[in-house]
Amino acid sequence: MNGMTRRRFLRQGGALLAAGSLPLSLVEIAFGKSSPENFSFAFLSDSHITHIKGKEFVRNWDRGLIRAVAETNLLDPRPDFIFYGGDIAQLGTPEEIDHGLELLGGLRGDIHYIMGEHDYYLDLGEHWRKQLGPDHYSFDHKGVHFVVLNSILTYDEWTHDKWDTPLRRMKEMARLDNPQGSPFMVGEEQRAWLRNDLAGIDKDTPIVVMSHSPLQKIYKGWNFWTEDAEQVQELLKPFTKVTVLYGHVHQIQYNQIGNISFNSAMATAWPWPYPASFTQEASYLPRLTVNMNRADPFFERDATGWQFINMHTGDVDVHYILPDNRNRVVAFNDKLGHPADTVYQPEPDRIPPQRHY
Ligand SMILES: [Fe+2]
Ligand SMILES: [Fe+2]
Repeated sequence: MNGMTRRRFLRQGGALLAAGSLPLSLVEIAFGKSSPENFSFAFLSDSHITHIKGKEFVRNWDRGLIRAVAETNLLDPRPDFIFYGGDIAQLGTPEEIDHGLELLGGLRGDIHYIMGEHDYYLDLGEHWRKQLGPDHYSFDHKGVHFVVLNSILTYDEWTHDKWDTPLRRMKEMARLDNPQGSPFMVGEEQRAWLRNDLAGIDKDTPIVVMSHSPLQKIYKGWNFWTEDAEQVQELLKPFTKVTVLYGHVHQIQYNQIGNISFNSAMATAWPWPYPASFTQEASYLPRLTVNMNRADPFFERDATGWQFINMHTGDVDVHYILPDNRNRVVAFNDKLGHPADTVYQPEPDRIPPQRHY
């Protein structure tokens, strides 16, 4: 081949030969099935749009989402698509969901949605599904396989038998530190669906899983937790490169468990404190996570934000945009083999966390 290696020939010349004359396996190699292209997408989450009455909504939460939408529209280059990480609404009413969708309708580009518990526990997702379609699905994009799960389901008994009214159920699930609450889970049905979905995927294809709650166990008292996390992780184990991106926690978290990198999203509405700084108990954060410094009570939007995500060769770099705080970048570090804060990861560079008591 005149000095050109077979692999290079396939990469450079494969497209010219086109599908017709090559067996399928060679076409797959030629189009780089295992070498994903670089691209970016935006990730907005947790707007908690709150209805007051009539046409009135809590202005502060509206403002967070409006600004995130405006800044996403100014991105250059354009992100390939946008993910919305769940909790559009506060109490899951049609008014809240529709108002949130109206504000998100200002986004230029396709949006993929993830179900949050605040969208679900009033009518068990009926209005959300009517507006947005299925709550779990997958698609391929530029050599990366994306999977969306509804991770905020719980035991049928808790959901169906315990409450006088749907609103009561919603309000119970909306609270932190609630002894009457119930842990989130993906559930058997979706795990079976996921097993089936992944069955045909090449093990070297990068997988990005999007969920609302973390598919790892951080702090059960606040449902920073998914009960069947290990069973979902097990299904993802055979793949070389997996990233889980999640909302719900309203704070920066990142972790590495085996082949799986975890990254959280900030909320456009409000920040949660880190569990350890609030409860004064042992740290529940993944070991790798460097807390972010916050929150300044004199800035009502402090420690809220949104994310722009670069995918390169299957790795995820999360750019946290925090309008009233310092922006942060948490990127997969090849040498260390896990995500790391590009500025604050080394111990001497860390900003001491503020205390909330
Ligand atoms: Fe939330
Ligand atoms: Fe949530």
